[in-house]
Amino acid sequence: KDSKTTRFIEAHELAARFFHHLLMNTEQGKVAYDYLMDRGISPDVMKQFQLGYAPKEQTVLKELLEKRQFDAQEMEECGLLRRVEATWELEDRFRHRIMFPIWNIDGKVVGFGGRIITDGQPKYVNTPETPIFKKNELLYGFHLARPFVRKKNRVILFEGYVDVLSSHLADLPYAIATLGTSLTKRQAQIIRRNTERITICYDGDRAGEDATLKAANLLQQEGLQVEIAILPEEEDPDQYIRTYGKERFQKEIIEAAVPLIVFKMHLFKKEKNLNDEGEKLQYVEEVLHEIASLSTSVEQDIYVRHLSEETSVSLEALKQELERKIRANH
Ligand code: GTP
Ligand code: MN
Ligand code: MN
Ligand code: MN
Ligand code: MN
Repeated sequence: KDSKTTRFIEAHELAARFFHHLLMNTEQGKVAYDYLMDRGISPDVMKQFQLGYAPKEQTVLKELLEKRQFDAQEMEECGLLRRVEATWELEDRFRHRIMFPIWNIDGKVVGFGGRIITDGQPKYVNTPETPIFKKNELLYGFHLARPFVRKKNRVILFEGYVDVLSSHLADLPYAIATLGTSLTKRQAQIIRRNTERITICYDGDRAGEDATLKAANLLQQEGLQVEIAILPEEEDPDQYIRTYGKERFQKEIIEAAVPLIVFKMHLFKKEKNLNDEGEKLQYVEEVLHEIASLSTSVEQDIYVRHLSEETSVSLEALKQELERKIRANH
């Protein structure tokens, strides 16, 4: 076991195999297995993503790691073990949780997300930042998605681990997710190296909308062509697929994804009654402001027409106002 990095990765690979075995083959893993089956996650997907079960007991993984000559101190440093405050003893970090191994781009396990099995807090426990686990540059599911991403020249970005699994079940295997944090520039660059087109498919709640706007800007700055998949209020992709099936998800959500400007129009409209003159004027203002910052006049032309039809404000008037805004931007 030469370098520390190698040892950290070997320990994670061992832990992933161990948790996966417990999930698939043992009585104690049955509660987790049944939970996943209830959520429609097939044994094939459990295998593909090497899902696992971390047992209830305090030191099961710790004992296995010691038996395999891993140094306990190092195992704390890489996040598999942690100190109990009261006693200063080391114990397993993940207990009685469903384990999602997190791979780096080479397909090596470098960390875990652990989901609570029923309800409770915190819902997920993730590996802390370590020399091999950097949340800012990892993307869940990327090494599995990569061949498909390359082939289709596209990727779908989700919020949650479970959404990525569901996307695979819905025959959309070019799926990735961030690790519970907002998308970073570094991640956007990594995505850009593999594809030119991305569909953002975040949860249909306020947090999801805000995160979508931030991610979309970053991705565009890196030169990606961005589309937004719009989910019904309060749904997440996994719930949607379970409720309406994969065909509807493919056609009505993913294929129906819209350019960022149309998503913004959707957000502006949601809060307004366009039959009210004042609110309509405000809507027109907001949309023109966005149209003015589009990069080509062809795009500007398309959406001014769109806006004119939608609001029955004359194209002439909209274009004049748009020109004024564009001049003001310079
Ligand atoms: P399910 O409830 O199992 O369907 O998970 P979800 O992925 O839909 O959860 P949610 O939309 O609430 O969260 C999206 C992602 O944020 C998760 O996949 C995690 O990566 C992260 N996350 C959610 N809850 C927590 C938490 O309590 N702690 C941490 N550290 N991360 C969380
Ligand atoms: Mn959410
Ligand atoms: Mn919406
Ligand atoms: Mn969610
Ligand atoms: Mn969910």
